[in-house]
Amino acid sequence: MGKPYIYNGVSWFDQNGDTVNAHGACLLKEDEKYYLFGEYKTDDVNKYIGFSCYSSDNLADWYFEGLALQPQNEGLLGPNRIGERPKMLKNHKTGMFVMLMHTDDLKYMDPCIGVATCDSIDGTFEFQGPLLFNGEPVRRWDMGTFVDEDGTAYLLLHEGDIYRLSDDYLTAVEKVAEKIAPGGESPAMFRHEENYFIMFSNKTSWERNDNYYLVAKDIHGPWKNQGLFCPEGSLTYNSQCSFVFTFEANGKNVPIYMGDRWSFPRQASSATQVWLPITVVGEKCLIPEFWPVWDSRSISNVSIGGLEESLEFQSNLSGESVSYQFNGSQVIVFGTSDCHSGYADFLIYDESGEVIHTAVVDFYSLVSDSNIRYVSPTFPAGNYMLKIMVTGTNGVWFKKDGTKFGSDDFYVTLQRVIVL
Ligand code: DGJ
Repeated sequence: MGKPYIYNGVSWFDQNGDTVNAHGACLLKEDEKYYLFGEYKTDDVNKYIGFSCYSSDNLADWYFEGLALQPQNEGLLGPNRIGERPKMLKNHKTGMFVMLMHTDDLKYMDPCIGVATCDSIDGTFEFQGPLLFNGEPVRRWDMGTFVDEDGTAYLLLHEGDIYRLSDDYLTAVEKVAEKIAPGGESPAMFRHEENYFIMFSNKTSWERNDNYYLVAKDIHGPWKNQGLFCPEGSLTYNSQCSFVFTFEANGKNVPIYMGDRWSFPRQASSATQVWLPITVVGEKCLIPEFWPVWDSRSISNVSIGGLEESLEFQSNLSGESVSYQFNGSQVIVFGTSDCHSGYADFLIYDESGEVIHTAVVDFYSLVSDSNIRYVSPTFPAGNYMLKIMVTGTNGVWFKKDGTKFGSDDFYVTLQRVIVL
């Protein structure tokens, strides 16, 4: 097992060296193991191809368990449909694991919340159909879930509607709040002592924006808008809230923010996660600074150490590359992302010249950010060569109303490496 370090905004690799492909994710602890569920994305078309399940003992080394929910032959999650934001609930009364998710058509014109169930956390879930409220499907899109200390579970929806679920979590039985966040997407809730906190993003498709939160003493409200929880203009440290996991460490409950750094269209290879501890003071919550890497045992910022060397490179020419030979077991690359940048191919060769690892890194971000862009898997100590190549491709996408988002050029900008 490696160090229990959580690296933000870079691809994580599983036991096979493949990217951890779990987005719009949630985390659940069961029998001393952490389980991560998320959207299993593609690099070309935006459609549902399953929800993935990964497990970990330390939140750093991830084991791909397989698809928790397979593509369906027909229906809400059938061919050419959207499936997003799977959220997992453990029902202690029935012993069932219940998964709720957003289903839709490819144009996002047929939204509906769906339900799937399984009797084990790492088993194959069975899709049950739409989640009903008063006998009618809940026809909404971005969603999240929250389980209170007494086991009562809630469905959270975009714009800020909240529903209480039945005791078996299989239907919605009470609308407890309505439109508390007009224009809000991707809701995520947690409780800290007597306060409930709910986070939302604004509606900018896959683009990041400054997310905000509300607080209440009672889920029914009144809910008070408290503004941003990350520094203004950081676009939530270039992420969109998805889930808050309450982490037990050193006898304390620490809420951990889990957000998506989307990378359209290459979501499978290049979308990454941003996980950071939330500081709560009374009715306020904030993430005061971005930690590129932190230790999940001590919940503290980590300085990486290792041998640091300059690797200055900037190019927007397809095929242009830079190579770096190193002796060690891992390489970490620092570079700058901004709105003029595109994708780079990363390749690692062993001494015999064989490619032993590949990755695709997105250098796009609306606000410029100089930081860690790549952390290789750990290899047996030895001599390796890292090659970084400009692909001449970038992330560009359009909103329903035709608004264009994304990069306007193909730059890849590097500064330095660390070898461990
Ligand atoms: C924003 C949502 O939060 C995402 O889950 C996804 O549905 C994108 N919109 C699609 O544009």
